[in-house]
Amino acid sequence: MDVYTAIETRRDSETCAPEPRPPREVIERLIRAATWAPSHRRTEPWRFTVLAGDARSAMGNAVADWMAATGAANEGQQAATRVRLLRAPVVIVVTQVGTPEDATRDREDYAACWCAIENLLLAAQAEGLAAHTSTGVMTEFAGAKQYLGLEEQDHIVAYIYLGYPPEGGVTKEGTRRPAVVRWEWE
Ligand SMILES: Cc1cc2nc3c(=O)[nH]c(=O)nc-3n(C[C@H](O)[C@H](O)[C@H](O)COP(=O)(O)O)c2cc1C
Repeated sequence: MDVYTAIETRRDSETCAPEPRPPREVIERLIRAATWAPSHRRTEPWRFTVLAGDARSAMGNAVADWMAATGAANEGQQAATRVRLLRAPVVIVVTQVGTPEDATRDREDYAACWCAIENLLLAAQAEGLAAHTSTGVMTEFAGAKQYLGLEEQDHIVAYIYLGYPPEGGVTKEGTRRPAVVRWEWE
């Protein structure tokens, strides 16, 4: 698949087939594609945690238990957290090595992580997978960072849910407004 086709046909898909699980070699290719992203001064700030099978509920339960212990969320939110990561056969948690002593680098490294994520999503599209990107509170909870073994200054950037497309395929419409561009083209 050429890069323009991958860019224009990729759609975020909240659902995917519960099985089969994409093979490990495919996931390795996606992560390799992610690591070819640019990063200023080649900091390569991205890290990846791949969760499949029971590892998904292990993390969900650990974060829900942390919520209960700290009062960070109500019972409904705890219950949702226990099952959230089960929405796809594979979840890649993309994290960033943080540098609080250098705010510019920290911001640039966060941007680089999103470049890596876009590479990963385009590679997933080329591999025929469905992918969903999620941020929100699961990137903020200290309990999630602890579970992943992150340092205080590190960041959870996003959770990428991956599987084969649901029955009927990914049907989400993909449109974009025309680019807003001011041309100064002498
Ligand atoms: C930085 C970022 C954060 C996102 N976070 C979420 C999220 O927390 N929940 C969600 O449902 N989708 C999330 N998405 C996916 C977007 O909702 C999705 O990309 C958008 O609807 C455009 O659709 P498309 O990706 O199919 O073109 C996120 C996307 C990006 C780039």
